[in-house]
Amino acid sequence: MKKILITGATGQIGSELTIALRENYGSANVVAVGHKKPASSELTQFGPYCQLDVRDAIALHQLVEENNCDTIFHLAALLSAVAEEKPQQAWDINMNGLINVLEISRLHHCAVFFPSSIAAFGPGAPAMDTPQDTVQRPTSLYGITKVSGELLCDYYYHRFAVDTRGLRYPGLVSSKALPGGGTTDYAVDIFYAAIKTRHYDCFLHADTQLDMMYMPDAINAAIKLMTADSQRLRHRNAFNVTAMSFTPQQLAAEIQKHISEFTISYSIDPVRQAIADSWPKHMNDSAARAEWDWQAEYNLAAMVEDMLAKIAAKCGNK
Ligand code: SER
Repeated sequence: MKKILITGATGQIGSELTIALRENYGSANVVAVGHKKPASSELTQFGPYCQLDVRDAIALHQLVEENNCDTIFHLAALLSAVAEEKPQQAWDINMNGLINVLEISRLHHCAVFFPSSIAAFGPGAPAMDTPQDTVQRPTSLYGITKVSGELLCDYYYHRFAVDTRGLRYPGLVSSKALPGGGTTDYAVDIFYAAIKTRHYDCFLHADTQLDMMYMPDAINAAIKLMTADSQRLRHRNAFNVTAMSFTPQQLAAEIQKHISEFTISYSIDPVRQAIADSWPKHMNDSAARAEWDWQAEYNLAAMVEDMLAKIAAKCGNK
């Protein structure tokens, strides 16, 4: 990776991955792309930033050409809950954005990183120890775009030798940008509520278990996969990766170890509950461990401690 373009740079993963890539590969060598003006100046201050819509193939093509990019991290997408509200728009952004990136990568010989998700599995897949290779019949529109994306990336690798690689991320917990429109967002929102009001009203059931990961591990996983020895990769696209698995009740109990007066209540959102119920509770990530030495650093206790410190500092507490 010498010259990198990253789409979705203002999003939950993008805002942190851009900074990590700039630290590793030099600020001038990482072109950040977002569909809006970044809220913080961090993205524009230290390296190139370009505002464009990933559906605009011509503009994207020009940017890759002008900057002589050899790698694209394609993160721009609508998340699961918002995709249920706007299914046509989600299909348009998630699929047409991806095919634009793949076509440009075919023409310019770029490597491509594509984030898939636990959402690529549906109710027919085993919810516990979900295998790397199993039935994938997702019921959410977001999940349908993710499994389609996995297949399209496989196709561009086999048919055109584009070096496509991808991960099936679990829910991601992060302290910088808010996720926005996802089913696993409760696991981020809860920290702001704990710091600000000592109470959180959760939109998922107390016992809804889902796979999760702390953002530093998610960033490391993306960079590690993209720099892995290609010869060792059997599952190029969509490696299961996980770090921890918990329910809202268990997360609340972990927060209570630090903030004893914290309480949680439940007002279920039927749309997001149905999505969560169709997703794996815990994926098997042995293929990622075997093929590119994947290993997470943060477990639930370490993640909660770090999140509380970071969100408290962000909100001006303590
Ligand atoms: N975190 C995402 C969501 O909830 C799943 O990939 O939509």
